[in-house]
Amino acid sequence: MLFQLNEEQLMIQQAARDFAQQELKPGVIERDEHQKFPAEQVKKLGELGFLGMMVSEEFGGSGLDALSYVLVMEELSKVDASASVVVSVNNSLVCYGLEAYGSEFQKKKYLVPLASGQQIGAFCLSEPEAGSDATSQHTTAEDKGDHYLLNGTKNWITNGSTASTYLVIAQTHPELKHKGINAFIVEKGMEGFTLGPKENKMGIRGSDTHSLMFSDVKVPKENRIGEDGFGFKFAMKTLEGGRIGIAAQALGIAAGAYELALEYSKQRKSFGKPISDHQAIAFKLADMATQIEAARLLVYKAAWLKDQGLSYTLAGSMAKLYASKVAMDVTTEAVQVHGGYGFVKEYHVERLMRDAKITQIYEGTSEIQQLVISREILR
Ligand code: CAA
Repeated sequence: MLFQLNEEQLMIQQAARDFAQQELKPGVIERDEHQKFPAEQVKKLGELGFLGMMVSEEFGGSGLDALSYVLVMEELSKVDASASVVVSVNNSLVCYGLEAYGSEFQKKKYLVPLASGQQIGAFCLSEPEAGSDATSQHTTAEDKGDHYLLNGTKNWITNGSTASTYLVIAQTHPELKHKGINAFIVEKGMEGFTLGPKENKMGIRGSDTHSLMFSDVKVPKENRIGEDGFGFKFAMKTLEGGRIGIAAQALGIAAGAYELALEYSKQRKSFGKPISDHQAIAFKLADMATQIEAARLLVYKAAWLKDQGLSYTLAGSMAKLYASKVAMDVTTEAVQVHGGYGFVKEYHVERLMRDAKITQIYEGTSEIQQLVISREILR
């Protein structure tokens, strides 16, 4: 068993770490405060090849492994989870979905600009009444011969207004339940496709989350992904990889908060010595470091399994379940270590604590991960 990153992975990790410090850190508090999308930063992430990391070079990607992707997610998320969620959705859900299941036409037309970072994408599964219960799609895609007619509403869509390409899940044959669901590529600007209001969120406030409305949107038949009725499997397979990305985001949020707490504990003095010299604080730091290391091992293992072409359903859900809990626990403790300073924005840890919460909710709540894990271990 090798617990060492190779040279290329170390270089990528360092590049992401530098980017996070130099490009994401300045302005991260203001972007959070004003819910400002990190547009310039995302453009640079695209130029660095971080938006299509695992896509083959043939389709405009960087052709890297899942472990490298996880390293990038971890480093970016230490500083700005609003930026890293763009990287996660574009890589894991949109690019992966298109490369793994799209037609040649779809890859050439849609994947190339997404993987090379000229455009960003969105993954549209959730609905007002279909969050965890993803089979209950109310959005319909009526088969009209050479096109589908799309009608319905999607909720909480990451990159809602900034994306150019949307992968939309909709029901075509309600009588077939999940076997009647399809996935479609929808372009911004298609007639009848409108943007709902932006969500005013607790965390990842810089990320752009919207509801989307489809009213008689004509989607050409060649924009359906896979065979008729493949949409639910498409969503599930794609989300499996997405969960590794969000687990890495949770790991990064925890590690970012821990690093700040560690540093602060050495500077801040009370009762005549640095607070890190008090066991009450030192023991907290020990627990935080241990939890983070355990989460890291789960996340890296899930990515490694994906790289080996082995099943990662169980490992990805375990990594997401555990790392997102660690993110909540560690960020809360990081605020505690900072005391009153932790409660104000300029020390960053309160933002990380707010950002941590979403990792227990999106791409499947913790309860959904428990469901997936229990099914896997009991079958
Ligand atoms: N791979 C392949 N197929 C799968 C699968 C997987 N991982 N999981 C389920 N399926 C298949 C099953 O085999 C079954 O197919 P058959 O009927 O042919 O056997 C079919 O899908 C239905 O499966 P289930 O009976 O297990 O369906 P269920 O309704 O009981 O449970 C679920 C499925 C796991 C709960 C699923 O609905 C789920 O994952 N829900 C959570 C959805 C989610 O993660 N939403 C996040 C939104 S996206 C997001 O957050 C993006 C963002 O912007 C950041």
